[in-house]
Amino acid sequence: MAFYLPTKIMYENEILKNEIDKLGKRFLIITGKSSKRNGSLEDLINLLESLDKEYEIFDESKENPPKELIENITQKYGKNWDVVVGLGGGSPMDTAKAVAVLCKNNISVEDLYDQSKYDTAANILCIPTTAGTGSEVTQYSVLTINGRKRGFKHEKIFPKIAILNPKYTISLPKDLTISTGLDAFSHAVESALSLRSNEFSEIFAFKAIKIIKNTLPKLVNDLENYEYRKEMLLASTYAGIAISITGTTIAHSLGYSLTTDKNLRHGIATAVFLPFEMKIAGTKKSKIIHELVGDIEDFIKTLGVEIYFETNESEIEKWVNAVSNSSHVKVTPGNFNKEKIKEAYYWLIEKSKFFRR
Ligand SMILES: [Fe+2]
Repeated sequence: MAFYLPTKIMYENEILKNEIDKLGKRFLIITGKSSKRNGSLEDLINLLESLDKEYEIFDESKENPPKELIENITQKYGKNWDVVVGLGGGSPMDTAKAVAVLCKNNISVEDLYDQSKYDTAANILCIPTTAGTGSEVTQYSVLTINGRKRGFKHEKIFPKIAILNPKYTISLPKDLTISTGLDAFSHAVESALSLRSNEFSEIFAFKAIKIIKNTLPKLVNDLENYEYRKEMLLASTYAGIAISITGTTIAHSLGYSLTTDKNLRHGIATAVFLPFEMKIAGTKKSKIIHELVGDIEDFIKTLGVEIYFETNESEIEKWVNAVSNSSHVKVTPGNFNKEKIKEAYYWLIEKSKFFRR
């Protein structure tokens, strides 16, 4: 489909209580510790209490959610939930999506990757407190299965409602502001380059690229600036809408190994491959992106990104195999065969001197 977005978006202080009310009676909230500090959990609890809802809170969300976490949540809290809320960054939202499917289906976490095994999910409500993942408007969830980051996709995991309130992102520290901002930037650039991009995705992708290029460098020096936070939250949602149409491309796939094996944050591990992806793609779109952003390496460097990791040939071989088997390859321009994928890793190792100050 050229464009499909079933998520109702409530923006800034707009809360349509009747819409939240319609979602159901019992709410399971998946979140981390930061939602207590940024005020989002308190707002949500007040909202649910004012609507006389039943709720429980799981506040031990983990980054790159492992399959065992999803299993533990359904074991501990059961499956009798009308609504699963993802409150926080990408991890609680992606966890909420997986739990929502398991609430309505008697299947394993592995089965989430087989679309034919389910066609329903509990209602999903997403409230992002970072500006990066875009998960609040996508049909994707990325989990860690047997030590590998792997995304699953299903129309039924589009959130029913997304609440976008920039004030929840104000207290985000500088390093997370940069890494999540670069995740959104990667979504926008990858979507624009994708062989699946269309007129609709391009509107959102290019808009997001422009906003992030202009706003992120200013925001990192003025973290409590509400206007900049607002722009970045909008940009990350626009980029999320863009990838809901196109999916991500090779930079995401290349970055997954660095996150899993080298502990690099997702947004950083992904964005550092963008210059290579742009160079190999060499399309009309890469030229437009270059006109908008200038040199992407310089842009990333301006933000003070540093990466360093040690590796060896056999580990790189393992990464190359994982990437070449990923669905991202087919939608990336430039024919990314195993040799080119390997070249990407060696290019980054060489460049990591550049990404070090
Ligand atoms: Fe991402």
